[in-house]
Amino acid sequence: MARRAVPPRRPRAYDRAVPTGSKRRAHPADRRTRRHTMLRMSSPMIAPSILSADFSRLGAEIEAVGGPDGADWVHVDVMDNHFVPNLTLGLPVVESLLRATTIPLDCHLMIDDPARWAPPYAEAGAYNVTFHAEASDDPVAVAKDIRAAGGKAGLAIKPGTAFDPYIEILKEFDTLLVMSVEPGFGGQSFIAEVLDKARAARRLVDSGELRLVVEIDGGINADTIEQAAAAGVDCFVAGSAVYNAADPAEALRKLRAQAAAVPRV
Ligand code: DX5
Ligand code: ZN
Repeated sequence: MARRAVPPRRPRAYDRAVPTGSKRRAHPADRRTRRHTMLRMSSPMIAPSILSADFSRLGAEIEAVGGPDGADWVHVDVMDNHFVPNLTLGLPVVESLLRATTIPLDCHLMIDDPARWAPPYAEAGAYNVTFHAEASDDPVAVAKDIRAAGGKAGLAIKPGTAFDPYIEILKEFDTLLVMSVEPGFGGQSFIAEVLDKARAARRLVDSGELRLVVEIDGGINADTIEQAAAAGVDCFVAGSAVYNAADPAEALRKLRAQAAAVPRV
């Protein structure tokens, strides 16, 4: 019987966002070709947030959004009931998830004291470790520790946090996570005003001043993803829009198709 050909991997935002020559530990998601690097446009990335999944069966819930057209990253919301008024999961659960899936884990730490708690997620093997600007006195030091531990470093900013003061330090980061809801809960309404920050970041990435993935988180669904895509977002976190759907994999594919159909200037 003829073997089915493995479908080519879609080019992803990191194909052009990660500097070559990095000494950091290689991750399967880092594989890239010259052709991909030269592409100006890449397929939108979708990161389903397991905050809206069934916590009693997280492995199966992640598997449900896997496959060649599936999740680019799995978004894992870590909340400590201090930085945000909610409590979710921590490093032991992330370690279990890392054993259960090969999809890169995008850990969004909504916690105090990221200097202490963030690097261990990278050491454990999380692909992207994002912490909040509002929670750190020295975000660059935290980013350096995350990278030294083998992870990509992400900086998250709440809806009310300005983008401009962070432009300079974002040179030390791989991801900017623009929050489009107040962090803490899934299923909230999208705050469109934050798109100005995504547009500003997009311009700096396109001009070469920054090299990072522009990611958005909160209220992304079929009604909002197009405006976020038009603003230049690379990676879309979607919790309730994926996991509250009858068919999460299908919902994910539809969101990606919607974002891909939006022309980027
Ligand atoms: C909220 C979390 C989000 C959340 C998004 O604080 O950071 O990742 O899961 O959920 P939706 O997509 O339902 O707004
Ligand atoms: Zn999140």
